[in-house]
Amino acid sequence: MPTFEEKLKTYYEENGRDLPWRENASPYTVLLSEVMLQQTRVEAVKAYYRRFLSRFPDVKSLAESEEDEVLKLWEGLGYYSRARNLRKAAIAVMENFDGEFPSSKKELLSLPGVGEYTSSAIASIAFHKKDIAVDGNLLRVFARLTSYPHDIKSPKAKEDCYDYLSSRLKKIDPSIFNQSLMDLGEITCIPNGAPHCESCPLADICLAHKQKLETSFPVVPPKKEKPHKKMTVLLFLKDSKVGIVKRPASGLLANLYGFPMEEGHYDENALRDLLASKGIKVLRMRPMIKKKHVFTHLVWDMEGYPIEVADAPVRFVSEKERQESYSLPSAFKGLEEELLKLNLLC
Ligand code: ADE
Repeated sequence: MPTFEEKLKTYYEENGRDLPWRENASPYTVLLSEVMLQQTRVEAVKAYYRRFLSRFPDVKSLAESEEDEVLKLWEGLGYYSRARNLRKAAIAVMENFDGEFPSSKKELLSLPGVGEYTSSAIASIAFHKKDIAVDGNLLRVFARLTSYPHDIKSPKAKEDCYDYLSSRLKKIDPSIFNQSLMDLGEITCIPNGAPHCESCPLADICLAHKQKLETSFPVVPPKKEKPHKKMTVLLFLKDSKVGIVKRPASGLLANLYGFPMEEGHYDENALRDLLASKGIKVLRMRPMIKKKHVFTHLVWDMEGYPIEVADAPVRFVSEKERQESYSLPSAFKGLEEELLKLNLLC
């Protein structure tokens, strides 16, 4: 009988996906792909990964980059602190490790943005060290295999998953062990809907499968409602250009460009008063546009007002300039699209 790890190895040989970051895995490409894959689907990441790697092919080029260019390449992926930390990690590798990625967990963990999961992914995939990169995929596979009865989001579940899997990794390449589990989780032991147990190499030992309770695992606590924040977005328009501002250096979407905003919702008269108090002369105010944006931890309920002005303390950019030179976070894209639909931008 093949062992747990041998079954995974065969599964990987037969089903493993050709992914761009698997072509020539190095610590740099593993870091880049894993950071992009946090919160983002594999299919969506592929093109970003290729584009990023062709512009910054190695850790040195990324360490020498301008932050704004890195952010521009990240546009649309969201969670921009990942991009900032990635660049800082490259700088740390150049400055603290002479340009050579460290292979020890402790040193990997010293890099900005590199936590338990990413350090384990680099150690196992790039350095072939025995380690387990516990992410949502592995947790789901583990929870079903063992019909794990506790909250899968708890720190204890991570530890239990780590222990369960690492005790089964004995002889095969840790890189294959981890990546086969990632693929198993993404292709076969899928998160939404019924898993494809007929093609699972571990179905014969899976406790959830035995009880036909696959979709009852993992156990997740009920979702908490996210707080909603009311925001008013000032879409200043001048000569068919829209006004953008650099956001503050800390807080949500820090240092990125966006439309100016005020907390709370204003009716048109209150908004006119507010603008007058700032010395902004309104030429024409158009009907309000409502948009929502869902972040991981909160929701913005936005009311955007297209306001034609003689001037305002913003940077006025044409749509072409905006697209070429400024990354606009997804939170603002819906409003930009509405302005385009209304033919308000050139
Ligand atoms: N999901 C997270 N990391 C992954 C990887 N390296 N390969 C495939 N899917 C993943």
